[in-house]
Amino acid sequence: MKNSLFSLLALLTTSVPSMAQMEIVQLAGDNHLIRVAPQTKEKYLLLPIEESAPESQLRVVVDNVQMRQLNVRLALSKVDYYVPLELDEFRGKHLNLFTHINIDRSNRGGVGSEVCLHDIKLSNTFDTTNREKFRPEYHHTPAYAWMNDPNGMFYKDGEWHLYYQYGPYGSMWNNMTWAHSVSRDLIHWEHRPDAIRPDANGTIFSGSCVVDHNNTTGFGKDAVIAMYTSCIQTPWGHDIQSQSIAYSLDNGNTFHVYEGNPVLTAEIADFRDPNMFWMESLSGSANGEGRWQLIMSAGQEMRLFSSPNMKDWTEESRFGKDLGCHDGVWECPDLLKLKIENGKQKGQEKWVLICNINPGGPAGGSATQYFVGDFDGHKFTVDNEARYTSGKALWQDYGKDHYAAVSFSNAPNGRHTMIAWMSNWQYANNVPTMQFRSANTICREPFLFTGSDKQIYLGSRPSPEYAGKGLDHELKIKGSCTIVLSNAEGEEFRLVYDEKAMTLTADRSKSGLVAFSQEFNEQATAPVRNKLTSLRLFIDKCSVEAFGNDGEVCMTSLVFPQSKFDRVNVVK
Ligand code: FRU
Repeated sequence: MKNSLFSLLALLTTSVPSMAQMEIVQLAGDNHLIRVAPQTKEKYLLLPIEESAPESQLRVVVDNVQMRQLNVRLALSKVDYYVPLELDEFRGKHLNLFTHINIDRSNRGGVGSEVCLHDIKLSNTFDTTNREKFRPEYHHTPAYAWMNDPNGMFYKDGEWHLYYQYGPYGSMWNNMTWAHSVSRDLIHWEHRPDAIRPDANGTIFSGSCVVDHNNTTGFGKDAVIAMYTSCIQTPWGHDIQSQSIAYSLDNGNTFHVYEGNPVLTAEIADFRDPNMFWMESLSGSANGEGRWQLIMSAGQEMRLFSSPNMKDWTEESRFGKDLGCHDGVWECPDLLKLKIENGKQKGQEKWVLICNINPGGPAGGSATQYFVGDFDGHKFTVDNEARYTSGKALWQDYGKDHYAAVSFSNAPNGRHTMIAWMSNWQYANNVPTMQFRSANTICREPFLFTGSDKQIYLGSRPSPEYAGKGLDHELKIKGSCTIVLSNAEGEEFRLVYDEKAMTLTADRSKSGLVAFSQEFNEQATAPVRNKLTSLRLFIDKCSVEAFGNDGEVCMTSLVFPQSKFDRVNVVK
């Protein structure tokens, strides 16, 4: 490994290379140049990853232009798994990877002895066969690598499109990209190629998609428009977060990034997660015929904007000062108009502002708070301020593993369908899976209901697609009781319903693997707004989702038992 190292390519590929297709050249310090020749036919460069290694840097230069800069935990002493760098888009071009290996030399061998430099390889295949016993049976997961927030979900022509925050080069957060999955039934998900990749404006953070039925952007009738945060991590501390748009003329499979990005900037560091929706017939809009509305998070408040064309945005108002929980950064907002389903105000519509926050959740870490009120196209106002003053807050799901919840746009029949990331920033990077990390919740339909205190609350019930599929357990509840989920190994997950205190508490301290994080053990307690009469449970390989009274009380919890909980007992 002194000067140059030619790969043993013949061993790794089926084609017989006429000349070296990959070579690794040592540069000064811990820098190397990995050159992949233009005539290389292989589809992938497989990068060896070691999860406990620090992030090394890879600058991807194609025909002398820097395409990407990746942070990758390149293996120093052992390979935990490989991740592929797809080569199709570089075919026929000169690909240079300038690699800086992040290593403390004091207790290591010589430069170039790192495992990654020997085990990196070209390949025509990348094996995504499941290797994880905690892989859910019917919850959405990435085939491999890291996932956080659901992004840009929309429905069109019979397909539910789900994009998500994806870290393609390892099972820990980084290199954010919009990956793409599609479902026709909200149960089976098909993985499609990554939709939006980092560019010179930054990595691709959370955002939304809309269908532009009226061609307001000029990109085309019924084009799918994505708006997302471009994030540049700078060496001088503050991230640069600005908002970009991209459009798709093939139902969201491929996107063209708009040349005029960014379309919206601000003077603050945390300015992200734009969520757009169309509002019809708004008095005061330019043509009286509706316009785009945008809500996005800005530090510890939300900012609202409007636009006729998604390129020019006007600030309308700000929301959140002194209201609700402010123990963390406000993220991933949504604004929905929902019907009240029972009580005196039955049939009335109210607006609900969804505000994910990290940290500050009711059981620690990240969670989804909400506000009930009205939105006139300019300003959101809460109905009853007292419910949100002095740090008081309402939560959509009181379990520890419900975050970044947002809704699908353009859903059929005026439906509102939401999905959340089923994890918590307290331990998301450390949960005991490696091939993939993180799953999403089942889809849920939000609704408003009246509690026994006459106040209006947000509920979420499982989407109708899950009924009658044998996925759930439906229990009748009569007074205080403990619901015990267990398996043959004697592991247990408990839900304790206390009718006197009107609470439901989740306890997973004996549910299997729990020691990977102290915070994972903490109990979660939900207030119960109307006496519980039923509890619906969705149990999968690594999660329990509980819905009291058809979604009035929601508790989502990750679990890592040796085998799926297959026994459900109600104990008095
Ligand atoms: C929420 C979040 C978003 C951001 C994204 C980055 O989990 O922090 O605010 O856009 O994750 O991956």
